Amino acid sequence: MNSCRRRWVPTSTSTKKWAQVVSELDGFIIVTPEYNHSIPGVLKNALDYLYAEWNNKSVGFVSYGSAGGTRAAEHLRSIAGELQLADVRQQVTLTLSDDFENYSTFTPGERHLAPLSVLFGQVEAWADALAPLR
Ligand SMILES: Cc1cc2nc3c(=O)[nH]c(=O)nc-3n(C[C@H](O)[C@H](O)[C@H](O)COP(=O)(O)O)c2cc1C
Repeated sequence: MNSCRRRWVPTSTSTKKWAQVVSELDGFIIVTPEYNHSIPGVLKNALDYLYAEWNNKSVGFVSYGSAGGTRAAEHLRSIAGELQLADVRQQVTLTLSDDFENYSTFTPGERHLAPLSVLFGQVEAWADALAPLR
């Protein structure tokens, strides 16, 4: 059995479309800002509306905010556990002061390229490793 939670069947058109997108993928990179030490409500909704579609897949995090969004990413790790979504160690954090011009235009530093490449590699490797469970 794939899951200990009952499968919730999406009924609205938008949720069905979202379920279709997620079900076709094996791994995810979630990019999130941090608001009041956590993730935005819309991201929480997007995660909560599905369940089985997330199971036994992999996820990595890119976070941003005044302080790099690290607390938002930590919250995502505990949410991922409940969704049976395996979170990889590597994380990329972007700060408003260093990676955004005038705190608004995205201008990421070159130093993020190598860690981002590691992040993609870990998500891909774990997505492959979890294939027998899906
Ligand atoms: C109400 C509010 C709360 C915020 N809280 C945090 C925070 O707790 N930690 C942080 O690092 N940045 C915080 N920020 C900064 C946001 O992460 C930053 O503005 C970011 O660019 C928002 O991303 P978005 O415009 O893509 O939604 C906050 C911003 C606002 C407006």
